[in-house]
Amino acid sequence: MIEDAALRIEGGAVVWLGREQDLQPGPDAPELDAQGAVAVPGFVDPHTHLVWAGVRREEFVARLAGEQYDGGGITTTVAATRAATAEELFVLAAARGRRMIANGTTTVEIKTGYGLTPTDELKCLDVIGRLAKDLPWLVEATYLGAHVVPPGRDRAEYVEEVIATIPAAAAAGATWADVFCDEGVFTIDETRRILQAAQDAGLGTRLHAEEIAHTGAADLAAEMGCASADHLEHVTAEGAHAMAAAGVVGVLLPTVTLSLRTFAFGQYQVLREAGVPLALSTDCNPGTSWCESMPYVVQLACLVYGMPVHEALWSATRGAAMALQLRDVGRLSPKARGDVALLNAEHEADVVARLGAPGCLATIVRGQVWQNPAAPSVSA
Ligand code: NIG
Ligand code: FE
Repeated sequence: MIEDAALRIEGGAVVWLGREQDLQPGPDAPELDAQGAVAVPGFVDPHTHLVWAGVRREEFVARLAGEQYDGGGITTTVAATRAATAEELFVLAAARGRRMIANGTTTVEIKTGYGLTPTDELKCLDVIGRLAKDLPWLVEATYLGAHVVPPGRDRAEYVEEVIATIPAAAAAGATWADVFCDEGVFTIDETRRILQAAQDAGLGTRLHAEEIAHTGAADLAAEMGCASADHLEHVTAEGAHAMAAAGVVGVLLPTVTLSLRTFAFGQYQVLREAGVPLALSTDCNPGTSWCESMPYVVQLACLVYGMPVHEALWSATRGAAMALQLRDVGRLSPKARGDVALLNAEHEADVVARLGAPGCLATIVRGQVWQNPAAPSVSA
């Protein structure tokens, strides 16, 4: 933490930061007075399912009444997403994206996974490509054809179709592949085959792991050298050590655990004790985490895991950049992208202590102050 700090951005990149009293005169540039607000690197959100249509209200209300989540609701979103045009999906996702940027997010990973036919998955990748072009943030696109086996499809045939679609997904802009490897979804063996095919096609790999039950997916992420394993509510110490040894980043999604009401927050200590580098993310999706705010995730992580505030901010920026293998975001050192979130706080602890307040005052993207054209908005 630098007190009374100043930061200079030129050409979209950080060129200097330090104490304001040490700031040398430089080229003429607009000046922004943060008025004592905490400035952190623009948030990096390394796990989202932003492209969807439809709503899942009944499922959410049923969970409040005690129903358990088994991933079955995904097919509701798949039906609505298949029925939507690329233009409709873009309008919905762009509104969410603008609100995410207003909450301080400047880099985002976006998965497909609600199309689940080659045509619909590629349609979603086109939407992700447009989100990357039309909004002022950095986007990493992930192919998640292996989200669930769509109803009415033969499992083995569907796994073959996912594998066969990988080259087209890569051509449509995906640089990552992901699999929902869990009880009742894709098995360890199916997942291994899909990840191997993705790696053979030059894609990086990541995994939905150990969310519903302990399956050994964390060990598989380590075996396959995945960049990250995400969720991990049911990871064991053995899986955590395998991840640490292989350098797999653990992506924690506390809003999901909250939304699912399982209150299984113990994985943080298990992963931390094993020395796994940790990232935080919203997992923004219509079923298990309708959350567009990284400051809220940071707050929740501190309150439910007992994560120290500085560690949570690190996980939401640098740790999340590591999960995406990006070097020039999630930090504010010289040469990093000039992406900054000005938080609604005069001290980092206030981010967590102040409940229910907007987390972010302003977002700076490559040196430009982001004006949110979508605000105020109530669209889903
Ligand atoms: O990350 N776990 C699988 N996928 C999403 C949820 C998808 C959904 O329920 O629509 C997740 O939680
Ligand atoms: Fe997810």
